[in-house]
Amino acid sequence: MEAHIYVDHRFTIAPVSPRLFGSFVEHMGRCVYTGLFQPDHPTADEFGFRRDVLDLVRRLGVNTIRYPGGNFVSNYRWEDGIGPAADRPTRLDLAWHSTESNAFGLHEFMQWTHAAQVEPMMAVNLGTRGIQEALDLLEYANVRSGTALSDKRIANGAKEPFDIRMWCLGNELDGPWQVGHKTAAEYGRLAAETARAMRLIDPSLELVACGSSSSAMTTFASWEREVLAHTYELVDFISCHAYYEPENGDVASFLASGTDMDHFIDSVVATADHVGARLKSRKKINVSFDEWNVWYLSRLQALPPATEWSVAPRISEETYDIADAVVVGGLLISLLRHSDRVTAASLAQLVNVIAPISTDPEGAAWPQTTFHPFALTARHARGQVLRLEPTGPLTATERYGEVRAVDAVATWDDDSGSLALFLLNRSPADPVEAVVTLGTSQQLYLVEALTVTGSDLRATNTAEHPDRVVPLPVPDVKLEGQCARLTLLAASWTIVRFGAGG
Ligand code: AHR
Repeated sequence: MEAHIYVDHRFTIAPVSPRLFGSFVEHMGRCVYTGLFQPDHPTADEFGFRRDVLDLVRRLGVNTIRYPGGNFVSNYRWEDGIGPAADRPTRLDLAWHSTESNAFGLHEFMQWTHAAQVEPMMAVNLGTRGIQEALDLLEYANVRSGTALSDKRIANGAKEPFDIRMWCLGNELDGPWQVGHKTAAEYGRLAAETARAMRLIDPSLELVACGSSSSAMTTFASWEREVLAHTYELVDFISCHAYYEPENGDVASFLASGTDMDHFIDSVVATADHVGARLKSRKKINVSFDEWNVWYLSRLQALPPATEWSVAPRISEETYDIADAVVVGGLLISLLRHSDRVTAASLAQLVNVIAPISTDPEGAAWPQTTFHPFALTARHARGQVLRLEPTGPLTATERYGEVRAVDAVATWDDDSGSLALFLLNRSPADPVEAVVTLGTSQQLYLVEALTVTGSDLRATNTAEHPDRVVPLPVPDVKLEGQCARLTLLAASWTIVRFGAGG
């Protein structure tokens, strides 16, 4: 079976947004404590950051990090995490039924972002708190000096302002599980007034209003419509959150999860544009897809409720397999395809909790299977995203009906003359021969072709076998003139890179 793909570097969607390859650090489980921060670990630096984790974070190629939650932020007091560590209060975290020591707070996070060379993206608490606390945090973080809170930051050791550009106005406030859960009208008003007040300090901030926690919410789309009716001219982004897992062993639908993500984004964009049209606004609201991943949430939900208030308990420490990695690669294709409107995204989360990086508190850190498609996409998606419309066989799924077996997107970087193709074969059983016509006047040569797949889709990486699953070279890529051919194995994600000239 053949799939035909025509690549034309003139069919651009949008530039690759540098913020598309973000991630998320929440005070949840062992993401922070014994994840990225562990002062007693042999690899810890002078700030207590695990160097082995930092190395992996840099290899992963993430750029923006959302912090400190998630559900956690909705009952968090940011002031607890500043000042001398010994004086910081211990609190109950209601979101994850944990004890929060506050040993890691705003300054530690900012230090860590410098060490990891990533941009911070800060969430304010609009669950138990409101406008004043958001303003206080903004003053503390971003005002240079000469006010009570900016001088306090300086006294706490940070002479330069943190200059955080991107701010989330709360988290998932449509969800009944959220501390401080609100109706769309309640949240829309609060988000609008918080945004208006924050812009009085700095009109150039980039603000994200909470969209739905998932497209399965009964309030989906009406939530976005009402929230944006209040906030349209005051915010830049509406958020999307989506997690995927196989339902009842249905691998075919799982591999096609990008279909759901496509539909989710298209629906939110349509809703935002509808609000804009009604307001006769020329402004466009973009999407911050600031939580996405594979998450075996049903396993977490099946556990009995926690009774202990543990410190950094193990929560949702998924061990990802090859199928999960293929799905993550496919979701990245969906995000890239929507680069004209999705200009920020965060793989949730970064370390230990539903994460591409795992740590042993007494040992090493290692990359999960999902690490690899993310790292390769983040490194090689450069320049302009190109629209591709693959033809070829269909594959049957229970959830989405028949979908095209091959999904694909490409990026073309004029500066370096490089073309990257990202290809997904969503058929669980059948390989597909991809026939790619490279519609460019330049002579291209093959740089490399790597695939994530395997005969055992359940294979995983572990502390003992951190490299059991790695991207493998595709053996049979043929390039004749402007036509490339390669086999996409069943249930596989593949990257093929070409250079121009030579
Ligand atoms: O990422 C884990 C959790 O998922 C976040 O805290 C919350 O925002 C979402 O429901």
